[in-house]
Amino acid sequence: MIIFTLSRFLENNEEDIMNTEVAGISIEQIAESPAIIRAGEIIKKGGLVAFPTETVYGLGANALQPDAAKKIYQAKGRPSDNPLIIHISEKADLDDLVLDISAEAEQLMNAFWPGPMTLIFTKKEAVPYETTGGLDTVAVRMPDHPIARALIKSAGVPIAAPSANTSGRPSPTTAEHVCEDLKGKVDMILDGGMVGIGIESTIIDMSGTVPVLLRPGAVTVRMITEIISNLQIDHGILEPMKAGEHPKAPGMKYKHYAPKAELTLVEGEPDQVVAAIKRLAVDKQKSGFRVGIICTEETKARYREGEIRSIGFRSRPETIAAHLFYVLREFDHLNVDYIYSESFADDELGFAIMNRLMKAAGYHVIQAEGRKNND
Ligand code: TXA
Ligand code: MG
Repeated sequence: MIIFTLSRFLENNEEDIMNTEVAGISIEQIAESPAIIRAGEIIKKGGLVAFPTETVYGLGANALQPDAAKKIYQAKGRPSDNPLIIHISEKADLDDLVLDISAEAEQLMNAFWPGPMTLIFTKKEAVPYETTGGLDTVAVRMPDHPIARALIKSAGVPIAAPSANTSGRPSPTTAEHVCEDLKGKVDMILDGGMVGIGIESTIIDMSGTVPVLLRPGAVTVRMITEIISNLQIDHGILEPMKAGEHPKAPGMKYKHYAPKAELTLVEGEPDQVVAAIKRLAVDKQKSGFRVGIICTEETKARYREGEIRSIGFRSRPETIAAHLFYVLREFDHLNVDYIYSESFADDELGFAIMNRLMKAAGYHVIQAEGRKNND
């Protein structure tokens, strides 16, 4: 009877539940890895493979096959007008995909590829509209991760890959995160351990007259402007779009990851921030709520109340970027009602960190002295 029920269940869900292979890959043995060969075959045949990059895990499919790209949207529950990034393993692969590569784009690619920088160009006909969400432009990057590069080579085709999370959840930085969201919905997950950078690539639109930064990342504004002089910064990176405004990156118009609990960022002098968060935590606990606190290695010993999680060393922003999505995911498993987070200087890598935290907080910021912004 149990067997009968189970098989009925499997039959009814045949289209929904896939048998996902999860393969651990050791970096030393990538070249001969049978798992990479199998993964390449899956991509070639139009299937889905999640894989690590240096930024976050990606959910990959053959970028040149419309039906394969469609499967990505289905597995993630992603709106079909939100375009995908195409991943290549050699710079020469770019010529098959895009038109009009400017001298500035060449300089940026020479400086930062392979690496966490995505450039947007006018697309060639070979790139299907299913991959670009209906746009005439296409986003391309060359990842700096041995597993990602080996997979692209093994597949022999460019790989379209958004972050490998269910739409609306934080980007995955471990294979376990990918399993949480996509096991049963994709053919294979390559486990390369925790990623290095932890936030998604910097996106620069090179398709217009002036390069425009659409999403900040580990390639910072300072690094970009050392190479090219005229970079515009899309507003909407640190503040919400006003009614009637249309963001250039379609992904930015969608509701971004919001934790289950209400997240508030607290700004101000570090000592005042700690004091304000402690006060807020005690107040909420007195009212019977459960509170989470996002703090740093430098401040964690000063908190007593609530679920306290360190996001990294304030003195080393790259450690904060690396743990940001990890900590936000952790809070979704802890049963808290309110989360208070310290905030960070929005220069250099901090610009990208604050962009992700602001979006997660729905731009909800409190000044430590008690004055409220955007409230
Ligand atoms: O680091 C990364 O970029 C990761 C890894 C997997 O490579 N990928 C990633 O992809 O973050 P995704 O899909 O989560 O974010 C891509 C962003 C979206 O906001 C999308 O709207 C924007 O890039 N985008 C893609 N193509 C575009 C285009 N042609 N014009 C404007 N924005 C575009
Ligand atoms: Mg994403």
